[in-house]
Amino acid sequence: MTTSSEAAPAPDLDGLLRDIGRLESVFETWDETQRLAVTAHCRAIEALHGEALRRLVRSLKGEPAALRAMKDALEDEVIYAVLRKHQIVRASLVERVEAALTGVRPMLASHGGDVELIKIDPPSVQVRFTGACDGCPSSALTFHEGVKKAIEEACPEITHIQQLKGMGNSPGQSASNAMQSPFAGIGLWRFAIKLADVPEGGVRGIEVDGENLLIAKRAAQVTCFRNACAHLGLPLHEGAVTDGILACPHHDFEYDLATGECLTAPSVQLQPHPVRVSGHDVEVRMAR
Ligand code: FES
Repeated sequence: MTTSSEAAPAPDLDGLLRDIGRLESVFETWDETQRLAVTAHCRAIEALHGEALRRLVRSLKGEPAALRAMKDALEDEVIYAVLRKHQIVRASLVERVEAALTGVRPMLASHGGDVELIKIDPPSVQVRFTGACDGCPSSALTFHEGVKKAIEEACPEITHIQQLKGMGNSPGQSASNAMQSPFAGIGLWRFAIKLADVPEGGVRGIEVDGENLLIAKRAAQVTCFRNACAHLGLPLHEGAVTDGILACPHHDFEYDLATGECLTAPSVQLQPHPVRVSGHDVEVRMAR
C-alpha cells in the first residue's frame, strides 16, 4: 500500500454542497430507472466509506491517545456530521438536547411560544422561553411538565435544568388568556378561591380535592403550586412575601412566585399546578 506524502488541498465545503445540490436537481429530471441507478451507486459508495471509517475507528480504539485525539476531532462539525451519518458516533449532548426541544416546540407553538437553548454545561442546561410562553403565568408548569421532562428523558446525564427569565409578557397579553400551559394535561377545572380573597402581592393556602395548593397573586398574574416546600415538604402559605419572593416560614428557603424557582437552592423548585382566572374566580385543574 502507498500513501501520498503531499496533503491534498482542503476542499471548498460550500462549493461541494452547492455541487451536490446542483447534481441532485439534475437527477430529479431523469427517469426513474436512471434515478434508481444513481441512488444505488451513491449508497454503495457511502457503504464503502462507512465501513472504512468503522474499521479505522475500531483500530484506534485500543490506543488511549488516539481515542483522545478522535474525541477532539469530533468538535469539527464536518467530522461529527459524517461519523454520525454512518452511525459511528452516538448523538452528542447538544444534538439530544436540541432534539428534545424540537419535540416540545409544536406544543409551545400552538400557544404562540417557543423555547431557546441558552447554554449546556453538564450536568446543567439553561433554556429560555420566548413568545407567548415568556412571562406566561403557566410557564413554570410548561417548563416542568414539557421542557424539563423532555430534556431529562433524552439526556439522563443532565440533572439541573434551569429556566432563565426572558423579557416578560408581550404588550397587551392578559393574564387570563395566557394561563393555560400546553402541558396542563386532561382534567376538570374546579373552583379554587375567589380572586378577591387572594391578597395582592401575597399567597393563600387552599385545599381542593384533598390536595394542598398555594395560590399567589401579583398584579394581573396568578400562579399556583403544590403547598409544599422543596426543602422538607412543609406548607408555605404562612411565609412572608416581598416583591414576588416567598420565604418559607420554616427554614427561609426563598421562592420566586412567578416561576416557582427556588432562589436558595436553584436545583429544586416548587411543583407548579395548572391554574386559570375565570371571571372573579380562580380555578385549578384537578385530575378528575
Ligand atoms: S421546609 Fe421550607 S425551608 Fe425547610
